[in-house]
Amino acid sequence: MLHKVLIIDDEKNMRWILEEALKNEFEVKSVENGELGLEISQSFQPDLILLDDQLPRKNGLELLPAFLAQNPDVPIIMMTAYATVENAVKAIKIGAVDYLTKPFHLNQIKEVIKRNIGTQVKQQPVIIGESKIMKEIIQQIRLVAPTDSTVLVSGESGTGKELVAKELHQKSNRKDQPFVTVNCAAIPENLMESELFGHVKGAFTGAVSNKKGFFQLANGGTLFLDEIGEMPYYLQAKLLRVLQEKSFYPVGSDTPISVDVRIVAATNRDLHEEVELGNFRMDLFYRLNVFPIHLPPLRKRKEDILTLAHHFLDRYKRPYQLDEETKTLLTSYEWPGNIRELQNCMERMFILSQGGEITKEHVPPEIKNKITHSHASFNKPADEASLNLEEHERELIENALMKTKGNQSQAAKLLGITRYTLLYRMKKYQILK
Ligand SMILES: Nc1ncnc2c1ncn2[C@@H]1O[C@H](COP(=O)(O)OP(=O)(O)OP(=O)(O)O)[C@@H](O)[C@H]1O
Ligand SMILES: [Mg+2]
Repeated sequence: MLHKVLIIDDEKNMRWILEEALKNEFEVKSVENGELGLEISQSFQPDLILLDDQLPRKNGLELLPAFLAQNPDVPIIMMTAYATVENAVKAIKIGAVDYLTKPFHLNQIKEVIKRNIGTQVKQQPVIIGESKIMKEIIQQIRLVAPTDSTVLVSGESGTGKELVAKELHQKSNRKDQPFVTVNCAAIPENLMESELFGHVKGAFTGAVSNKKGFFQLANGGTLFLDEIGEMPYYLQAKLLRVLQEKSFYPVGSDTPISVDVRIVAATNRDLHEEVELGNFRMDLFYRLNVFPIHLPPLRKRKEDILTLAHHFLDRYKRPYQLDEETKTLLTSYEWPGNIRELQNCMERMFILSQGGEITKEHVPPEIKNKITHSHASFNKPADEASLNLEEHERELIENALMKTKGNQSQAAKLLGITRYTLLYRMKKYQILK
């Protein structure tokens, strides 16, 4: 496989020349500004980035920290037409591996690319966790990964569900086969069936050729059904049948196709509750819930916060200090966006440090503010912004029960839910009857 090079340059000619010069030896993509470059580097996952210094809006030197933060293991080479020693020194100090002055010979740029590409080993994401619960989960993953058992991963947003799904695949003997992700929330309902099971030519208007569905694409490997709670109800029965029979009919076809896929599903909903509410089929739930893995929110495993913070900061290969005050700030914050939020916070600290030492000065203001904020207003229901949904819900239920002096039927009416749902939620939030 060719190494991938991402070029960011606002000059159309320059992009064209570089693409032409490099395309035989590398897989090349080029964009005209930094914002696009940052966006594309997420999906393209370049092995090296050529960043022009003179760009519209923000120049390359200003953008460099953001690129480094997002691609910590990728060498970045700055290009400029207006070289000053000062800029070169700055770029290298911030973390660029090299600096080229325009005009350059194409041979020169190839040589610099070859010297730097593939030298930095890309770190595979690993599941980090020192808390007892995470250690248990890591052990469970190790045990269940090599089997073909269906795994249902649950947890709030940003708790690492996708990471777990990938790890299950990586640690299985299917690891050299495809890992296919289906985001059930992102596919329009009317396309879901053909996306999952494929279709034959002429099956519906617009079906101009046969198309393989996700199940077929994942054959031999793992199919990751993300946000399974969003799967339309009528398709849930179809999915169940496929899971049981391991074969299906593409839309418009009467010839069944057999597949061998390992299913990992994930949801940030409480599927148990969705079943109770009639939104999710009980039979499908039991079929998926063969091996459940529940990832607790970060606020329930505070021991992991600093371990993860160190882990993310280490990737930037910069000196940093986390003094006691910073540690307290980080550990007393609630992290509603969980590990993703923590990771983004570390990325921002790195960017704010502009390539220098990372210290408490760089803790984003809202983390500092939120702490005083949410502590001061912890019990004020009016302050919705600082409460997460569950806390808000619990508070509503408690208020309703207080108003009705503990009469559950009346409280349920007040809340507009059934008494059964109320009881279920009281149990969930451990509200005493
Ligand atoms: N235990 C962990 N150790 C290291 N990194 C982690 C861990 N958990 C999550 N991450 C990182 O946090 C980010 C968010 O994780 P992931 O996308 O897996 O969350 P998710 O539960 O699928 O979130 P969502 O519900 O929003 O889709 C990823 O970059 C992931 O690599
Ligand atoms: Mg996810």
